[in-house]
Amino acid sequence: MIIQANQSKMFLFILTICAVNTVNVCSQGKFAKKMQTLILLHFVPDYWPNIVLMFADDLGYGDLPAYGHPTSYAPNLDRLANQGLLFTQFYVANPVCTPSRASLMTGRHVPRTGVYPGVFYPSSTGGLPLNETTIAEVLKTVGYNTGLVGKWHLGVGKQGMYLPTKQGFDEYYGIPYTHDMCPCVTCFYPKDPCYYSCDTQFVSCPLFKDDTLIEQPTDFVTLSERYTSQARNFISKSVHEAKPFFLYFAFHHTHNPQFASKKFRNTTIRGAFGDSLAELDWSVGEVMQQLRESGIENNTFVFFTSDNGPCLVHLLNGGSAGPLKCGKGTTYEGGQRVPAIAYWPSRIQVGRTSHLATTLDLLPTIASIVGAPLPNVTIDGVDISSIIFKGEKSNRNTFFYYATYCKPEIGVYAVRYEQFKAHYYTAGESNSGRNNHDLDCRPSAKETVHSPPLLYNLNEDLSEQYDLSKDPKYASILSKIYEIKVKFEANMIWRESEIKNKKDPSVEPCCNAGCTPFPECCSCT
Ligand SMILES: *[C@@H]1O[C@H](CO)[C@@H](O)[C@H](O)[C@H]1NC(C)=O
Ligand SMILES: *[C@@H]1O[C@H](CO)[C@@H](O)[C@H](O)[C@H]1NC(C)=O
Ligand SMILES: *[C@@H]1O[C@H](CO)[C@@H](O)[C@H](O)[C@H]1NC(C)=O
Ligand SMILES: *[C@@H]1O[C@H](CO)[C@@H](O)[C@H](O)[C@H]1NC(C)=O
Repeated sequence: MIIQANQSKMFLFILTICAVNTVNVCSQGKFAKKMQTLILLHFVPDYWPNIVLMFADDLGYGDLPAYGHPTSYAPNLDRLANQGLLFTQFYVANPVCTPSRASLMTGRHVPRTGVYPGVFYPSSTGGLPLNETTIAEVLKTVGYNTGLVGKWHLGVGKQGMYLPTKQGFDEYYGIPYTHDMCPCVTCFYPKDPCYYSCDTQFVSCPLFKDDTLIEQPTDFVTLSERYTSQARNFISKSVHEAKPFFLYFAFHHTHNPQFASKKFRNTTIRGAFGDSLAELDWSVGEVMQQLRESGIENNTFVFFTSDNGPCLVHLLNGGSAGPLKCGKGTTYEGGQRVPAIAYWPSRIQVGRTSHLATTLDLLPTIASIVGAPLPNVTIDGVDISSIIFKGEKSNRNTFFYYATYCKPEIGVYAVRYEQFKAHYYTAGESNSGRNNHDLDCRPSAKETVHSPPLLYNLNEDLSEQYDLSKDPKYASILSKIYEIKVKFEANMIWRESEIKNKKDPSVEPCCNAGCTPFPECCSCT
């Protein structure tokens, strides 16, 4: 058991218990440790809060009922939003999946992690570098059980060297990348079509348990149910062991192709996307139900958010950015501002907040909540406990937007400072749709430099429509933002890319490695 310096009061408390106890429960040994944990959990229920991080895929700012969507169905997320804290200005560090997740896990901007440009493919040989410290590794230092269910997308690599079990997770159950990177077979039961022909150049979707490939192709119609029971079991097992835990539940929903079990197929008036979201919401409800059944709902910090904006190229099946401009892949608001809800009965500041916060902030905030030491590296996140517990703003008054294909020669695309956002560069991106009604979002909108940068007041102009940069009134704001940008970039260290030119089909997960014809032959049956 590790006792942190800032928890010295608790330490004294234990010492007192040790002193008065005739059976020496404070001696070494497994039993003694378990006793200590039980005592702590019993007398000080929030001494070691559990952490549940739920992460949706490509769920846009406008997709949840709590954010105004009129026909989505998500009663469990509604409840979390109504009884928790809903963020209206919450950002991800990058507008696509892999780099966004690298920053979520490390609290560090994309260049520092080397997880750029773009995303990992099944044949990528790289991964989140092993000397980066993940939230799971931070929580391991204070004795947490750590489990990941679902999508990882931070590398598999040779002999699975980048799997979650190598990055601080005791347990893993899931597909380590996006499910459109494998041939789609069945998305809906019974034998309803997938609305998309997935990538057939790769092996069938692989399902891992820890480091072992256990199912290929993965059955999507039963996947959510299995993920959910895995998550519930992880919670109940940890409670049984009297261990605090970190559950990271990373859904494939609502990334294209949409899929759902029979129970959710055709149940919403929003079509395939709505069905998939309804199934995600059901999983959220099941996790919350398990927390209640285990009697730990009041001792668990729950956070729900998404990895990036909606994938507008998939039209009806791609989600909604609501009032925000463009979507996934772009540094406009629709690419990086996402839904986010914090929940912790009796602890949290209930309501809505427009204070700035980001996924970079979760690592330092979680570390602060549990009293774990931060890794000795530059952390770009800030502790947002003041927002969550007191409704007061944090130290964050800036945010830096890095593009999907970011590179050192260009640096940050845009800078947010208080209510203002300055775009030094803009570009459309294929994920936001070739035929987007807004020409700026399309991939045909090539990288453009703006000097002066386009300037928007996001508090007054949510949709980035009215450029203020030519108005002399804003000259001092522009120079202030420029100063912030220069200072920030002077301290940015670009790690060598883990993605560029690092591919080898032999690393693709395959149940019968070496078989022919590859990749179709890869199958666990
Ligand atoms: C990890 O190792 C690389 C290569 O040796 C080094 O450049 C980098 O600074 C290290 N990063 C951390 C966070 O230790
Ligand atoms: C769902 O609706 C579609 C379109 O109406 C229909 O083709 C399909 O058979 C339905 N699927 C189920 C499982 O009811
Ligand atoms: C959890 O906290 C709520 C709100 O403070 C309270 O009403 C409820 O009784 C608590 N539940 C338990 C099991 O302590
Ligand atoms: C943190 O890292 C710096 C630079 O690498 C090093 O000089 C310092 O000793 C480290 N501090 C601790 C507490 O490990």
